[in-house]
Amino acid sequence: MNKTIAFFDSGIGGIPYLVHLRNIKPDLNYVYLADNANFPYGIKSGEIIKEIVLSAIGRFIEKTAPDVIVIACNTATVVTLPYLREKFNVPFVGVVPAVKPAASMSENKRIGLFATNKTVSDSYTDNLISQFAGNCEVHKYADSNIVSFIENKMFETEDNKVLEFLVPAANFFIKEDVDHVVLGCTHFLFITDILENLFSGKIKTIDSREGVSRQTLHILGCDKARDSNMDVAQCANNDQSKNSGSFYVTSSDVNIDYYKKIADRFMLKYSGII
Ligand code: DGL
Repeated sequence: MNKTIAFFDSGIGGIPYLVHLRNIKPDLNYVYLADNANFPYGIKSGEIIKEIVLSAIGRFIEKTAPDVIVIACNTATVVTLPYLREKFNVPFVGVVPAVKPAASMSENKRIGLFATNKTVSDSYTDNLISQFAGNCEVHKYADSNIVSFIENKMFETEDNKVLEFLVPAANFFIKEDVDHVVLGCTHFLFITDILENLFSGKIKTIDSREGVSRQTLHILGCDKARDSNMDVAQCANNDQSKNSGSFYVTSSDVNIDYYKKIADRFMLKYSGII
């Protein structure tokens, strides 16, 4: 039987991670849970985030019996990963800001971190920076309005409006003269192109999709690409017509028609509430 990979986020932010892995391995089962009842996580306290994530993941496991769970949310990973591993007997892959690759790719040793308020202020992130980017100046920027805009409105808004929303963040990174910006909130993967346009090609964005996909396949024992030293993307089978996945939410009261449309857009089947 095919293995099941579960993706979890406070909302739609984890979808780019699912899509990335599904492009590489279309033959696996994909399930996704958006905790829309509790969105946003990024402005909540660590204690509250821990409580809601542990509860949602417990229900998600019961419903879908996954072989591996990707916590496709930097905020949830930073706050809860050790507790999840302690409580549940399922392998977890966390998503944390890609500070390490950014530091090694940066030429001027000035990098940006664009994430939620919780992620930029958490001691986990400080440790990550001192461990892997000690030789860089790291300039952090958080904006919970952008995260909420992406979650609730972006896919129904014209591109130039989205652009306006991002100008202050882009200006911050330009002013700080960074050469790479780490997308440390999974929601920001939806705006990579728009951000890079605002940077006029002078600043590159960087995220953790590649590493997370590799690690997930490794846990499942399907990482031939890794063994043969190929880039995982080379194994991609882009014929997605025959695959999909199930998309769940935690509340039917919040924006449900929008979520159904998003699920459809990314070839996921809206499957109800967990
Ligand atoms: N997508 C989430 C992350 O990567 C957080 C969004 C939120 O604030 O809920 O941090």
